[in-house]
Amino acid sequence: MAHFTKATSIHDWLNQRLAVDAVKKVLATEYWIPKNINFLWAMGMILAVTFGLLLISGIFLMMYYKPDTKLAFDSVNYVIMSQVGYGWLWRHVHAVAASVIFLIIYIHMFTGIYYGSYKKGREMIWISGMLLFVTFSAEAFSGYMLPWGQMSYWAGMVITDIFSLGALHFNGLVEWIRGDYVPGDAFLTRFYMLHVVLLPLAVIALIVFHFATLRIPHVNNQDGEEVDFKEESEKYLSGDTKNSKVIRFQFDFLSKDVMVLGFFFIFFFYLVFYHFEFAMDPVNFDPADGLKTPTHIYPEWYFLWTYEILRPFPKNPGLLAFGFAQVIFIFLPFLDRSPNVGPASKRGIFKIWFWVLLVTMVLLTILGKLPPVGIYTTYGTVIASFFILLWLSLPIVTLLEKPIGGKK
Ligand code: HEM
Repeated sequence: MAHFTKATSIHDWLNQRLAVDAVKKVLATEYWIPKNINFLWAMGMILAVTFGLLLISGIFLMMYYKPDTKLAFDSVNYVIMSQVGYGWLWRHVHAVAASVIFLIIYIHMFTGIYYGSYKKGREMIWISGMLLFVTFSAEAFSGYMLPWGQMSYWAGMVITDIFSLGALHFNGLVEWIRGDYVPGDAFLTRFYMLHVVLLPLAVIALIVFHFATLRIPHVNNQDGEEVDFKEESEKYLSGDTKNSKVIRFQFDFLSKDVMVLGFFFIFFFYLVFYHFEFAMDPVNFDPADGLKTPTHIYPEWYFLWTYEILRPFPKNPGLLAFGFAQVIFIFLPFLDRSPNVGPASKRGIFKIWFWVLLVTMVLLTILGKLPPVGIYTTYGTVIASFFILLWLSLPIVTLLEKPIGGKK
């Protein structure tokens, strides 16, 4: 058994039992961050905090929400919005955070792509990030069902219908998922369970895993420079902080994170108080009605690009294209064949690939919101096919890339 001495303080008592000083060093005071990074490296922290806001606001909403098709709509739109003190505030915080978190996730993902933060040694950071993306998508979708408005019902119908399309049309798969022939009570309660228990637990576990994947390779930097963290941290600890290429997480980097977080909060609460409607579809303020199909059914803005990859094609090719779009990002570390790490601006043809991918996804997002008629269907088919080709071309594009000097 370990040797325990008489504790001189609570800190000492805890330290003898839990090695709090050692843990603090590993996680914070001797967790090294490169100096040459910019505000985009604060997005991870913003995501973690926004997820925290979703959890807290969600807990308050759960106290009054009723997962029953007869009560759900009123419990949200009447009880929470007008009967419960500050219920409207928790609802707006929750809805705005759910939407804004996707904006930040996309910025965070594209920062990773731009700076090659998924490359050799950092593959697991990327993969765990993509697992978070998929789980978050399921979390957002299940949450969207809960107010049981027209869009909840019909988006639920359309998305679960995917499991009855083409080759998937077998043996009552879609009924098994819904728990009924059409979305009803069984559907609502299982999505409620997913939204408040299973998926949040999965997200928390994945965030812990994502953080763990960062510990050994450390975060990348804006020049793609291979920093020798051992040497640089020794320099820092010996007092030569000026010439060291690294800073401590606590409080050097944290203070910068908190500053960016401050700006983010101004933007966030501006939306919560003055523009919450952007996160709430007007059609969803009508109660769900299985006999009245809305003229145009579309998902929230962050799913529009994938929706547009499913929609323009016939059933089986549509399913394949949709499946491709869901999984392809996860393979990025293996599709990028170039050894270059560093900003896309220094990577020749990859720079073009990066910006074309971004514009393609914006165009798909715009088209996903427009009705699938006439010329829009043609544009949709062309751009969705282009998106697939773009990804298939990545190994060739990156093989053509010339090595940039001094990079691994
Ligand atoms: C709620 C979800 C997420 C949280 C809380 C989170 C958190 C973080 C944090 C705190 C960092 C370190 C600081 C930073 O670079 O911002 C980080 C880095 C990273 N994350 Fe995430 N992340 C999430 C989702 C994602 C997603 C969806 C991806 C996309 C695949 C991703 C990919 C990465 C990558 C590649 C890095 C390394 C950046 C670098 O080395 O420069 N993360 N994440």
